[in-house]
Amino acid sequence: MSVCQYIENAEEDLDITFYKKVGNDLPVINSLDDLIEQLRIIFESDSVDVDLVHYVLKSYKSNPADWKRFAKFDRYRYTRNLVDHGNGKYNLMLLCWGEGHGSAIHDHSDSHCFMKMLQGSLSEIRFAWPDKEDVTLKEIGRKPLNINQVCYINDSIGLHRVENLSNVDTAISLHLYCPPYKQCSVFNQNTGQKSTSTVTFYSMFGKRIKENKQVEEPEDN
Ligand SMILES: [Fe+2]
Repeated sequence: MSVCQYIENAEEDLDITFYKKVGNDLPVINSLDDLIEQLRIIFESDSVDVDLVHYVLKSYKSNPADWKRFAKFDRYRYTRNLVDHGNGKYNLMLLCWGEGHGSAIHDHSDSHCFMKMLQGSLSEIRFAWPDKEDVTLKEIGRKPLNINQVCYINDSIGLHRVENLSNVDTAISLHLYCPPYKQCSVFNQNTGQKSTSTVTFYSMFGKRIKENKQVEEPEDN
């Protein structure tokens, strides 16, 4: 799938950009079902407008009644819960972050990654790719993500880690990965050392995946 160049507009400019681009034909998103339907339509094309994906994700106003059946937490680490497989073109999933849970520093396997906050707050810390071996990863930015905000990253932007900094509140985020991937790279912040991590689901379509006898490493995207 080819996907157009993503330009990171300031969020407040995004609506104006789209009204100019497509007039009044912007999709109206009143529920998670609306969002899923619109994403399916957008991704029917082989050339996806990444700004439009950002727009529809931002348009959806989080309503727990829509997504609570997908929200499954684990005591020890954040979970990935599949909501829609997007006809094989992308994966849409809920990530449920317990108090203090965070990811490793990771890349996105040449995929596009969108992330929208549904509940609570997260912190996104970005790092530059290491340019040589055995160096501490250089932080290039960090920002808080609050309810209904959307952020975007791909490998050309850099690496990141996502954390729930709260010790009292959980957080839930909606992620779209295009195309879907089964493995990504994770990085040691102090040494830059890279290793491969397999990504797995904690639940699919609201049903918990039974623990496999074949133990897989926890995922880190
Ligand atoms: Fe990520």
